[in-house]
Amino acid sequence: MFIPIPDNISPILKEIGTISYSKGHRAYLVGGPARDLILKRKLKDIDIMVEGNAIGVAEEYARHHNMRVKVHPEFLTAKVKGRKFIIDFASARKETYPTPGSLPIVEPGNFEEDMRRRDFTINAMAISITPDNFGKLIDIVEGLNDLNKGILRVMHEKSFQDDPTRILRGIRFSARFGFTFEDKTLVYLRRDIDYLKVVSRERILRELEFISKEGIEGIRVLTKHHIHSVLNLCTVEDKILNKIIEFSEKTGINPEKSLLASLLMCTDDFPLTSHMRKNINLIKSLGTFDIIKVARIDEDYLPLVYAYIENSEEVVKFFTVRERISPEISGGEMKKLGISPGPEMGKILEEIMVLRWQGRIKTKDDEIKFIKGRLNA
Ligand code: CTP
Repeated sequence: MFIPIPDNISPILKEIGTISYSKGHRAYLVGGPARDLILKRKLKDIDIMVEGNAIGVAEEYARHHNMRVKVHPEFLTAKVKGRKFIIDFASARKETYPTPGSLPIVEPGNFEEDMRRRDFTINAMAISITPDNFGKLIDIVEGLNDLNKGILRVMHEKSFQDDPTRILRGIRFSARFGFTFEDKTLVYLRRDIDYLKVVSRERILRELEFISKEGIEGIRVLTKHHIHSVLNLCTVEDKILNKIIEFSEKTGINPEKSLLASLLMCTDDFPLTSHMRKNINLIKSLGTFDIIKVARIDEDYLPLVYAYIENSEEVVKFFTVRERISPEISGGEMKKLGISPGPEMGKILEEIMVLRWQGRIKTKDDEIKFIKGRLNA
């Protein structure tokens, strides 16, 4: 079976296939991009597998186009940043996992080993880009069948033990495509779910970020499989999820940060950025609407504020007037009035914002009058 290759990537793939062939290697589009082409979805990036030295192929392709190439000989990979796509090149490899949850030992392998090391059958298909059979689907694991049936099937019984993050990847694909776990895969998932605890919190957090990008379905599928309780994450009720989406639709704010934070509100176990920690702590400290606290929360997290507090309509109002309530007076102008930069200036700016919120200050002149009155008091 031949897969139609869209015009925007066909010349890129043809050229890479030809370079590989001239070096005596076969090359393939593999993994997510192969799956997405079959599904007729837009490609985010390009993953190439070369049966041979992928780094040499990447270097030659980059040289032709005057592009930079970043090589990782220890992983047998190279990355080229093209104008429209990032192209990842990898030599066919086999992987072994010394202990559950550890990173794999990578060794050169053949085509079949490279396909069989992968997470799900739908991600283990290859589309040839070699000139003699350009576009031919090579599917040794019946991935196409599973793709058509909407099934996530692991390649072998120990897959989730080798790499427990595959459980979270499965959640991500299930949410994105509406696929379900094949019966045995589901049995393995339930059996091996506790292996998630041996994975570093950094890697788990990264996967949770990806899951949050899938929207509320990502959180729903995670919860459905009880993964939140294994990882000590919050149980996020549908009511909250729906409100997050409602606010994000009203305002155009991307919900992903709020969805992620909704899971992380009840744990201190994850290495969050100080930025995210600050926002979560502020939201946790909110009972009802508090203009000073809400103004300190970054816009990305407002959907979560809306979902959590009682008088949520205030958050909508805040979003609409947020530019109008921010003080017009500059730091320099305040200095001229006799206020030195520091906590005092910050406090006055917040007071002005509250008065603007209450409608008691409307213009810059009002602000100056307020400051003068305050200094004379
Ligand atoms: N892969 C795997 N096990 C992992 C990570 C990756 O088997 N733990 C394989 C899969 O074949 C996957 C490919 O490596 O398709 C590329 O990985 P990645 O880019 O993370 O996955 P995508 O399937 O491209 O996911 P997305 O569509 O979300 O980018």
